Amino acid sequence: MRFSIVLVAVAALAAVSFTTAAPAAPKPGSNAQTLTVLNYALTLEHLEAEFYKQGLAKFNETNFTDAGFDAKVRDRFVHIGEHESEHVATLTSVIESMKGKPVPICNYSFPMDNLTQFLAVAQALENTGVSAYLGAASGLSGDLLTAAAAITTVEARHAAYLNELWGQSGLPYAFDTALGPREIVTIASNFITSCPYKIGVNPFTQLTASLPATGSNSTKVMTSFEGNGNMTDSTFCQFLFGNNVTVSPRSECALPANANGYIFVLVTKDKTPISLAQDSNVLAGPALLFNGTHSG
Ligand SMILES: *[C@@H]1O[C@H](CO)[C@@H](O)[C@H](O)[C@H]1NC(C)=O
Ligand SMILES: *[C@@H]1O[C@H](CO)[C@@H](O)[C@H](O)[C@H]1NC(C)=O
Ligand SMILES: *[C@@H]1O[C@H](CO)[C@@H](O)[C@H](O)[C@H]1NC(C)=O
Ligand SMILES: *[C@@H]1O[C@H](CO)[C@@H](O)[C@H](O)[C@H]1NC(C)=O
Ligand SMILES: *[C@@H]1O[C@H](CO)[C@@H](O)[C@H](O)[C@H]1NC(C)=O
Ligand SMILES: *[C@@H]1O[C@H](CO)[C@@H](O)[C@H](O)[C@H]1NC(C)=O
Ligand SMILES: *[C@@H]1O[C@H](CO)[C@@H](O)[C@H](O)[C@H]1NC(C)=O
Ligand SMILES: *[C@@H]1O[C@H](CO)[C@@H](O)[C@H](O)[C@H]1NC(C)=O
Repeated sequence: MRFSIVLVAVAALAAVSFTTAAPAAPKPGSNAQTLTVLNYALTLEHLEAEFYKQGLAKFNETNFTDAGFDAKVRDRFVHIGEHESEHVATLTSVIESMKGKPVPICNYSFPMDNLTQFLAVAQALENTGVSAYLGAASGLSGDLLTAAAAITTVEARHAAYLNELWGQSGLPYAFDTALGPREIVTIASNFITSCPYKIGVNPFTQLTASLPATGSNSTKVMTSFEGNGNMTDSTFCQFLFGNNVTVSPRSECALPANANGYIFVLVTKDKTPISLAQDSNVLAGPALLFNGTHSG
């Protein structure tokens, strides 16, 4: 299976649901638990930093201007990539200073046949990154929490820029969505082909989801996943956006009218809302959708 990675460190990530799910998880608040959270962040930062390295090696300024972007847009991507590399360097040195072992880079496969795909993955990674840091925040305290927050705000600047670049709202909601490690690793594992270490968090089953066609009067999000195809059945769609969780029977899977930016969609076996403390009913997902038009 393509995504048969098992990510190590992330297990105990945050004092959220995961600590109970993982018996071997280090004690909340312990040094080991803090290192687990930091290595989880480092896993994501490696992925982002590597993504920009590969993309910028592939697309030069001409590729951006050919696609109709201002020449300075590529410079923004250079800056974003530099930020991610600096996050990697800082997390690595913090982990070392705590006598931990920083996780190394993995092997990745990023869809970037053309600039459109590169931009789409960048947008997905930055918006997901914000949710990952928010979900991990409760696993940190003191100076480390401040340091992680200082990264989170920068990831949010990146996300806002990319959302606008793409013709969508840079600031769709008054709050952002916190996601737990299994949700995040499900999305990240789309891009990780192998790792020299175990990430320690099992991704959920991948979900394919698509928005209703532009201009159609349908609100139905089409969903499918391995083992359940695209059948409509007694399961539920859950939409996580802003600080909102909206549950809809999968037969309707109705995109909430106020979801006008990123939307994480999952399929669950019952209608208990998903939260950081509760994801035991997830059957597949999240898939990340963006409601809005984009040029490209
Ligand atoms: C980008 O690369 C192409 C070749 O692939 C080259 O023709 C072009 O001059 C390069 N543009 C810049 C701005 O370096
Ligand atoms: C980038 O643009 C050059 C022409 O400047 C083109 O030859 C090349 O295929 C483009 N690269 C990608 C990955 O689209
Ligand atoms: C980019 O590549 C993807 C996948 O090969 C393709 O579906 C899409 O149409 C391409 N977009 C452009 C603008 O070339
Ligand atoms: C990447 O894949 C190659 C084989 O394709 C393997 O030799 C190497 O160990 C992998 N590296 C990582 C970091 O997993
Ligand atoms: C959508 O619009 C078509 C005609 O444009 C109409 O026949 C259909 O009933 C509408 N469906 C809904 C759910 O409103
Ligand atoms: C399921 O997907 C197939 C092909 O992707 C499509 O033809 C069919 O209409 C879909 N069925 C439902 C119930 O969505
Ligand atoms: C969440 O979205 C739903 C569907 O659009 C809406 O009815 C509800 O008021 C929203 N709840 C919150 C807390 O924003
Ligand atoms: C999507 O976002 C737009 C605003 O960008 C909003 O008008 C619309 O109601 C949202 N929902 C759907 C189902 O399109």
